[in-house]
Amino acid sequence: MLIKRKASILTSEITDRAVFESRRRFIKAAAAGSAALMLPTLAEAENDIYADVLTGPYSAPLSPTDYEDVTSYTNYYEFSTNKKDSSRLAQALKTRPWSVTVEGEVARPGIYDLEDILKDNPLEERIYRFRCVEAWSMVVPWIGFPLGQMLKRFEPTSNAKFVEFTTIYNPDVMVGQRSGVLEWPYTEGLRIDEAMHPLTIMATGMYDDELPKQNGAPLRLIVPWKYGFKSIKAVVKIRLLENMPDTAWNKSAPREYGFYANVNPEVSHPRWSQKRERVLGSSIFAAKRNTEKFNGYGEQVASLYSGMDLKKYY
Ligand code: MTE
Repeated sequence: MLIKRKASILTSEITDRAVFESRRRFIKAAAAGSAALMLPTLAEAENDIYADVLTGPYSAPLSPTDYEDVTSYTNYYEFSTNKKDSSRLAQALKTRPWSVTVEGEVARPGIYDLEDILKDNPLEERIYRFRCVEAWSMVVPWIGFPLGQMLKRFEPTSNAKFVEFTTIYNPDVMVGQRSGVLEWPYTEGLRIDEAMHPLTIMATGMYDDELPKQNGAPLRLIVPWKYGFKSIKAVVKIRLLENMPDTAWNKSAPREYGFYANVNPEVSHPRWSQKRERVLGSSIFAAKRNTEKFNGYGEQVASLYSGMDLKKYY
């Protein structure tokens, strides 16, 4: 993110909603055992927890970005600062078994197995516009569960004002962690009311399937009204805190990346404007779209920041 590279040209167009729906129908038909579509075995389809996830109440009626683009152009500094290389290198990460350590201001701290977290938290599909800080955006049908629902099960105390998230540290596999490009492990944070907001989810899948490793498998935060860097990948630790935590990008470049990081066309990044964005996968000749404040989710989240100067709290 700090190193601004020339954007590579991706020519494929955005997936039409109809194509996406037909893929869903295909998977559902396979799950129902339709002979012509028996690519996965019935047992496999029945075991696929992503095959029949219901659309969540906050899904936006947007056309998803092409799957190939979302999975081949990724930001994952633990593997590489090159968005093309991180997709390949991330395949080395072992994502099962996986557990999440819960610490701090909670009545039920502990080490929770991901399978148990999944059993406790029903999956929902959410279609979000997701905007990276480098002026490109995409629309992704994430599959996950509300972070707030999971946090409530750990019983936060009344001192819990912030939540800190930490990515796995494993420099043997995550070759980027051998460099000092960021301070490792990658951490992020939210205010508790942001964390409890129903738009904030922990994603474990996308596009009817498991989350690809390069997109943050097996467990990744999604905060759709904030810039993409808040959406930390491969989370292994969650701490509830009384004080605002440091975050990886804020430590690395405090003038460029604040704690809040709400999508805001009125506040420019010191090195580039945030007014317009390129839709991932569109031709570089295609018109850019105007960036919407809070990424278009103002109606749902603006009240979280009433009375705050968002130029100061960027
Ligand atoms: N999480 C970790 N652990 N490491 C990272 O480098 N990059 C962030 C965020 N989460 C990053 C991360 C940034 S800068 C962005 S824009 C998004 O992931 C990119 O998500 P995507 O690769 O799925 O598009």
